[in-house]
Amino acid sequence: MNIAVIYGSNRADRQGIKAARFIINKLSERGHNVKLIDTKEYKLPFLDKMYKEYEAGKAPEMMGKVHEILKKADGFVIVSGEYNHSIPAALKNTLDHFQSEYYFKPSAILSYSAGPFGGLRVAVHLRAVLSELGMPSIPTIFPVSAVQDAFDDEGIAVDKNYDSRIVRYIEEFEWYLTAFKNQRKEGTPY
Ligand SMILES: Cc1cc2nc3c(=O)[nH]c(=O)nc-3n(C[C@H](O)[C@H](O)[C@H](O)COP(=O)(O)O)c2cc1C
Repeated sequence: MNIAVIYGSNRADRQGIKAARFIINKLSERGHNVKLIDTKEYKLPFLDKMYKEYEAGKAPEMMGKVHEILKKADGFVIVSGEYNHSIPAALKNTLDHFQSEYYFKPSAILSYSAGPFGGLRVAVHLRAVLSELGMPSIPTIFPVSAVQDAFDDEGIAVDKNYDSRIVRYIEEFEWYLTAFKNQRKEGTPY
């Protein structure tokens, strides 16, 4: 499967990149073709026009690159920190630039925080947004508490419980990826 991992923090001292690398490693090990959309790397402008509102070939180059990744993806993993109990602005800004690229594809939420609650409050907000964007999220959420200590800089789990916990989450996501892909082949309502 082609999977886009979307991670949204532009902070200099950001920690969630470790969780993004962890899930990229795990999905790659299972043979998936994984691309990271990192809000810091792609530096999308604060939303003016959505990608679809540009004339063909006129969108900023970075938007075009993100569009291509999203369009090819069979599903999305949203790696999100929790800022004041909700979605980091950089992540929401990136999600909002695109629309039909997401349609009829599943998403999976990986939330995290510095404290003990693993970003569960942002996960609840994200569910509503992801459904509205046309990429409903799978039932299981993967919350990571104390993200700064959970993985090393390469995304290797320090707490080995994450290596076993991730298996069921990925298997569930794969089921939805396959089901949605098969049904997309039969056509979509729009
Ligand atoms: C603006 C801001 C708001 C935050 N709000 C919360 C919060 O509501 N709940 C929480 O558990 N942690 C909160 N934190 C702490 C984050 O969980 C922690 O800094 C985490 O590493 C942020 O993700 P990042 O490093 O990928 O940017 C907040 C951090 C920032 C910068």
